[in-house]
Amino acid sequence: MGEAGLYQDLPAAKPKELRARGQYREFVDINRRAGNYPKVLRRTADGRTCQVTVWCSNDYLGMSQHPKVLAAMHEAVDEYGAGSGGSRNIGGTHAHDARLEASLAEWHGKEAALVFPTGYSSNDATLQCLLRVLPDPFVVSDELNHASIINGIRSTRADRAIFRHNDVEHLDELLSRQPHDRPKVVVFESVYSMDGDVAPIEGIVEVARRHNALTHLDEEHAGRSTTAEADWERLG
Ligand SMILES: Cc1ncc(COP(=O)(O)O)c(C=O)c1O
Repeated sequence: MGEAGLYQDLPAAKPKELRARGQYREFVDINRRAGNYPKVLRRTADGRTCQVTVWCSNDYLGMSQHPKVLAAMHEAVDEYGAGSGGSRNIGGTHAHDARLEASLAEWHGKEAALVFPTGYSSNDATLQCLLRVLPDPFVVSDELNHASIINGIRSTRADRAIFRHNDVEHLDELLSRQPHDRPKVVVFESVYSMDGDVAPIEGIVEVARRHNALTHLDEEHAGRSTTAEADWERLG
């Protein structure tokens, strides 16, 4: 590739390279229809549509289509308009966001809660903040943790170690090499998305407490433990 043509050649060469490695990502044309969860309309490259069932959504309880959720959203859009118009830093906080945070905090028996727009940003921002604020922290992360966790940790200078997936003894061993009074954070998920396996939460928390470590738990997939039908019925 010539130097002069680098900026032109690269956008063509890179996708070719990814295709050759089988890593080129193509997005599937999937269209959810309210009231039809978890069935969606898939449009194929030749323009045909067919109905398929989606098994890879994070909307485990189908709440995005619950009539009460839809009615509340319609009401909110009519009253306040769509979107926030800017981040909290720029445009301030809406009273409903503050109410949501207060209700989440109460539900979890905590002093306060902070809502993030995505799971990715919550891991990334929280870990970055925590590991920059703690003096000389040591972070231990499960080997199968999500990219947002890895990214959050990598963007700090914290000393780190990886424990074998769901292996409490390995975690114990890694933590026991650190001074008791050194700030430590154990990062793990409750339900892992790829295989649906569940972390030994009690064991991990016990080991963390024994070694004077904080825990950071990602619950992105934990909603799976309740069936969608049961929750819909409860809401009425
Ligand atoms: C364990 C875990 N944490 C965080 C995320 C990121 O969440 P989001 O897609 O809401 O940004 C994902 C994505 O699926 C995930 O699997």
